Amino acid sequence: MRKKIIAGNWKMNNDIFQTTDLLNGLKEKISSSEHLVIVCPPFTSLVVAQQLLKNSPIKLGAQDVSLFDSGAYTGEISVGMLKAAGCSYVIVGHSERRQYHGETNEIINKKAKKVLDAGLIPIICIGETLDEREKGITDQILTTQTKGVLADFSNAEVEKSIIAYEPVWAIGTGKTATKEQAEESHQLIRKVISQMYSWATAEKVIIQYGGSVKSENAKELLSQPNIDGALVGGACLKADSFAAIITAV
Ligand code: 13P
Repeated sequence: MRKKIIAGNWKMNNDIFQTTDLLNGLKEKISSSEHLVIVCPPFTSLVVAQQLLKNSPIKLGAQDVSLFDSGAYTGEISVGMLKAAGCSYVIVGHSERRQYHGETNEIINKKAKKVLDAGLIPIICIGETLDEREKGITDQILTTQTKGVLADFSNAEVEKSIIAYEPVWAIGTGKTATKEQAEESHQLIRKVISQMYSWATAEKVIIQYGGSVKSENAKELLSQPNIDGALVGGACLKADSFAAIITAV
């Protein structure tokens, strides 16, 4: 039985003061959970979040990482820095990184490897655009992305990794994939992993759904057999709405 993992991607929201308010609110509401709960604040909030989450079951993640370990890479943050700031998880390849920063499956694969090599867990994002869905090439896109982002991973590495299926057309739009659409994509992703590795390995991989998840649709989506959690954007920015998702599933 795979554990459910609910992660909040804060994106570029919340300074250190807002972070303190949100996490204090969240700690009150989530003092224990049968699910694994992760928050991914912006880089500038990680250290304050680490302090605030010391005696809490809520884990800390980052939203991106550099391909490099140190040196002349202005504006970049290394995985070592993230580890020292208390992160156990790192989101890589979010569609906003693909769209605004030109990240490819190859770059995302290298970033995920960096994260794993440092002993952290990558949350690797994939998902088709509206145009790709309308052209009927969703399966093809998801197959290419899955193979690309997991290229050269060992069995152990793929089993440790988290995949987040986020259909781009569902992100921030209020248009959630139906449970059937989401389950179908998750099944496909797991099948591709099984072909690359084995069913035993594919069965162990956590595949989260992301895209307009809220407390009203979380239970239905997460009760699908292949949907093992959620990567939440907008609804994770308030303690009430994020906690409501966690308690709903
Ligand atoms: P929304 O929940 O705001 O649609 O965002 C999803 C997302 O991009 C999480 O990474």
